[in-house]
Amino acid sequence: MTDASTAFIDHTLRRRILCAVGALMLLLLLAACSSGGQDPAEVATLPEGDARRGEELFILSIEGAPPCSNCHVLAGPPNEGADLTGFGALAASRVSGMTAKGYAYQSIVKPAAFVVPGFSNLMYNQYEHRLSPQQIADLIAYLLTL
Ligand code: HEC
Repeated sequence: MTDASTAFIDHTLRRRILCAVGALMLLLLLAACSSGGQDPAEVATLPEGDARRGEELFILSIEGAPPCSNCHVLAGPPNEGADLTGFGALAASRVSGMTAKGYAYQSIVKPAAFVVPGFSNLMYNQYEHRLSPQQIADLIAYLLTL
């Protein structure tokens, strides 16, 4: 084989590999998009959360919003809201593509985006406007310890 034909084969081979890699990446991208979610962009801008403070906030009414504990129980039969026992372990697997923190954030500010199977979309939906980013971060830190 001449140098020129080897070069030609190299060239076609390289193009084929590039195409295959490109197609694979496109498939991965499609799979990621079709299977649900990703963390809301705001998650990256949240301050560091304090779980102890979050625990206190959980039972408080802030800016006229109902306390989380009005609807959520931590042990015993769930009332209106979901039982949050074990939430820390569950959160990462609720929506594929979302981290536990991302899902916890979404659950507080956009509860309708994912409604827990077996429940109705009854959660109070104005926390985004009543809670500060620090309060949301504290609540998330607390929820992830459950
Ligand atoms: C008016 C009742 C109500 C209040 C108040 C409420 N929730 Fe909820 N919450 C629900 C209901 C009902 C669901 C299940 C339906 C859904 O997913 O939206 C839920 C779901 C959730 C989930 C998802 C649980 C899971 O297993 O995936 C989290 C986390 C959560 N709430 C946190 C909170 C926090 C934190 C607060 C306070 C800032 C709060 N909720 C206040 C009713 C409420």
